[in-house]
Amino acid sequence: MGEIAVQFKHISMEFPGVLANDDITLDIRKGEVFALVGENGAGKSTLMNILYGINTPTNGEVFIRGKKVEHFDPGVAISLGVGMVHQHFMLVPSFTVAQNIVLSREPKKMGVFFDNKGAEKETEKLVKTYGLTVEPSAVVQEISVGLQQRVEILKTLYRGADILILDEPTAVLTPQETDELFAVIRKIVREHGMTVIIITHKLYEVMQISDRVGVMRKGKLVGVENTSDMDERKLASLMVGRPVLYENLDKEDDIGDEQIRVDDLVVGDNRGLVAVDGVSLSVRSGEILGIAAVEGNGQSELLEAITGMRKIESGSVTIRGRQINGMDPGAIRGIGLAHIPEDRISTGVCADASVSDNLLMGKERNPEFNTLGIAQNNAAIRKYASEIYEKFDIRGAGIDVNVGSMSGGNMQKVVVAREFSFDAPVLIISQPTRGVDVGAIEFIHEQIIQQRNEGAAILLSSADLDEVFRLSDRIITLYEGKVTGEFKASEITKEEIGYFMTGKRETEAAHE
Ligand SMILES: Nc1ncnc2c1ncn2[C@@H]1O[C@H](COP(=O)(O)OP(=O)(O)OP(=O)(O)O)[C@@H](O)[C@H]1O
Ligand SMILES: [Mg+2]
Repeated sequence: MGEIAVQFKHISMEFPGVLANDDITLDIRKGEVFALVGENGAGKSTLMNILYGINTPTNGEVFIRGKKVEHFDPGVAISLGVGMVHQHFMLVPSFTVAQNIVLSREPKKMGVFFDNKGAEKETEKLVKTYGLTVEPSAVVQEISVGLQQRVEILKTLYRGADILILDEPTAVLTPQETDELFAVIRKIVREHGMTVIIITHKLYEVMQISDRVGVMRKGKLVGVENTSDMDERKLASLMVGRPVLYENLDKEDDIGDEQIRVDDLVVGDNRGLVAVDGVSLSVRSGEILGIAAVEGNGQSELLEAITGMRKIESGSVTIRGRQINGMDPGAIRGIGLAHIPEDRISTGVCADASVSDNLLMGKERNPEFNTLGIAQNNAAIRKYASEIYEKFDIRGAGIDVNVGSMSGGNMQKVVVAREFSFDAPVLIISQPTRGVDVGAIEFIHEQIIQQRNEGAAILLSSADLDEVFRLSDRIITLYEGKVTGEFKASEITKEEIGYFMTGKRETEAAHE
């Protein structure tokens, strides 16, 4: 057996009302890729935040290369060779790649001035050593998410990390970017003897990349296995405690009137460049139109314009027969639109408010929750929030805690639960299952199909092509803000659609 890189001994972590880690004992071996899986709220991020020194455990001990951690602090963890890439990157967007990498350890000229050339040289060296290609002088906000993640990894390597924690690194990546990341992981493990711990909800990724896998359930470590002894099905049932079957979704075909209409829409991005460039589309009642596009091709801006969160430069958007140009998000919701936004943390939830308040949002004035429009009917509110909490199997410390303290996947469930509870005739859905565990994905997919079967018109955008295919009736591809193709989901394959997502047009394909 090889050397041990990290030892957790009887680790417990208690937050008010939740035992997030419950007596965990686990060894991570030097030079292995260790995958950590488990349902939303199982305690994965909590355990890794202990290793990175962000959390101080309530009980138990951590040893790094045999040395006991006496003081839980990220500075100490970094000095012991631990690096962590969080799901939400922590780079400075206006700095260059090189400036971000050397940040806080900058080479200085004559000890005073920031030495840009020096920083770029250091970065070049790292890039060569580890084969992680990035342009040192590129500005971070102008490079893709996949490259930004590479910068995060290089930054940990620059600080001397040899134990690398990646918390859901692939949630934000395209399939191609994921392949590239995995190639990098294999290389740093094989050639540099690094130890990598990766958290993911995608079980086929566990099978692809890891040597061993640990499964957590409700704070406990319920199994550690060699990946070669496992398959996705076994992993899913270990995680959830029951078999997870992706049954065929029961679709009923009853397409009705047009509910969403977009004509020749032009929308700008944050930098004032054209992001949506003359898009037209239509969605009718009882159907799901899926958008397949590589991140950054206008899909976010398109959905923001439709929901009133971004200005329409020209063209028009009509929801249920009413043109919504210039209307604010609240007024558009009033027409009968519900929205699951891409970025749940900044626009989906109010992190400082309770779960119950978040679930009620938009319904505060309903007569059942108000007596004579003056006094809040707390009993009714609690009953309502508890019911939804149960129905969507949200896991946390109950409806009274702040949403901000919940696990990533459970925050997402709060947004989905609230938006579905409106039974709105128009649904705009972006990344509905990003960061959500397999059991919950199954449930959310069933809910989406149920809304469709009951007559909702649904516009869906997801970076997960499997999800787009599984749910959509029709699919459009977007490339650089333009529609490059429109297909019946049943008449095209994932491979074929890849062409259109990278710029080929239907008309060109027809000539081949
Ligand atoms: N800072 C905190 N304060 C209070 N409770 C917390 C805090 N951090 C985590 N928790 C709770 O601890 C539990 C475990 O959360 P954790 O984030 O570790 O889950 P996870 O396995 O990473 O889930 P996900 O897959 O959704 O990211 C959850 O019930 C969560 O609400
Ligand atoms: Mg987590």
